[in-house]
Amino acid sequence: MRQTPSKLYHMGTLTNKRIVLGITGGIAAYKSAELVRRLRDAGADVRVVMTQAATEFITPLTMQAVSGNPVHSHLLDADAESGMSHIELARWADTALVAPASANFIAKMAHGRADDLLSTLCLATEGQVALAPAMNQQMWLNLATQENVGTLKRHGIRIFGPAAGAQACGETGPGRMLEPVEIVSLTTQLFSTGTLAGLRVLVTAGPTWEVIDPVRGITNRSSGRMGYAVAEAAAEAGAKVTLVSGPTALDAPQRVTTIRVSSALEMFDSVHAHIEGVDIFIGVAAVSDYRPASAASQKIKKHADTLTLELVKNPDILKSVAALSPAPFTVGFAAETENLETHAREKLIDKHIDLVAINDVSETDIGFDTEDNRLLLIDRHGKSELPRQHKSQLARALIQYVAERYHAKRAAQDSRPARR
Ligand code: PMT
Repeated sequence: MRQTPSKLYHMGTLTNKRIVLGITGGIAAYKSAELVRRLRDAGADVRVVMTQAATEFITPLTMQAVSGNPVHSHLLDADAESGMSHIELARWADTALVAPASANFIAKMAHGRADDLLSTLCLATEGQVALAPAMNQQMWLNLATQENVGTLKRHGIRIFGPAAGAQACGETGPGRMLEPVEIVSLTTQLFSTGTLAGLRVLVTAGPTWEVIDPVRGITNRSSGRMGYAVAEAAAEAGAKVTLVSGPTALDAPQRVTTIRVSSALEMFDSVHAHIEGVDIFIGVAAVSDYRPASAASQKIKKHADTLTLELVKNPDILKSVAALSPAPFTVGFAAETENLETHAREKLIDKHIDLVAINDVSETDIGFDTEDNRLLLIDRHGKSELPRQHKSQLARALIQYVAERYHAKRAAQDSRPARR
């Protein structure tokens, strides 16, 4: 007798999780109704988006009935847009899960095309994107498909499956969509990868504000987005996260203890007040290197033609954390405009940190106060590039990298013979 698949997989919870289920054209679309039912059983709120081709395989009415929500299929549908626009839908989603994902859809996504509702939504969402491919085995094995899948993986998109076996077309090989129960199990793991389970992570984010007088200060263009995304990604990976944030307009991330500070000195004090027991420290904040030597108690009047501000150096928070004994695994960010690698390597050595994440802030559409970013990671073992993507996805890729390096360092320390 065939074993019930649900007994074979660890089923987590998707309580309060908002999932857009994208369905593309393929015979495996018949499994999508069961997939919706299982996602809902796990606690998720599901909204279905179908491509035109998908509606040839399963009706929108069926998907509406099983999801309990209207089905979206047109990019420029005035009725649907007035209910929930494609951008609202993209913002609503914690995850966009495309199952089945056809070879054509995978190719479109790999090239960033947005010519229908589903591909537009996948480009626009800040949530995680996961695809469950389903296609003929030759199409899956085709070099073009494999290259497209490789591109998507590098962009932080998760690929679930496919499985191998007998196919609807009569062939046998890889390309079958995973069973709904397997897809649900992998989806629950998106929300807690567990790679940092049981660990404590401290993240700094945002700018600092160095007071000149009661109405003026020195600050910078950091919005806090990158640091908040890193804190959220670490929490998703199972860590207990503290975020020490300079002044930003952002809401505190969920599942993260957020402490708001203003100046570099306050950030330094707050970090050191919470550093005990921290396993990983990630300095994303754009900390002001200098502050006015003294802050005027009253607003400075514009009597003189020139005004000289004396600045004194702020303590280096990152360096001070790396100098602790024991020190947490320490990750620094580097905002550079030229000679990226050279400057970053100097920081790695000078600050005695484990890893440096460099962003090229000479480009106007990444880095400071932008939605996207790109990072070059350098440590003593080598370097790795995380391509341009939304900061929330980039942060997840960074956290995966940090988790691997952290565990490798711990394993190396544990295997060293104890000193006599
Ligand atoms: O906030 P966003 O708008 O999303 O923008 C993100 C970002 C561009 C601010 C972020 O990705 C980034 O690059 N942060 C580091 C910016 C920076 O200050 O770089 P730096 O090269 O000056 O500093 C190097 C490292 O030392 C950083 O980890 C910084 O946090 C740390 N530092 C610097 C000075 C200081 N006194 N104390 C520190 O801890």
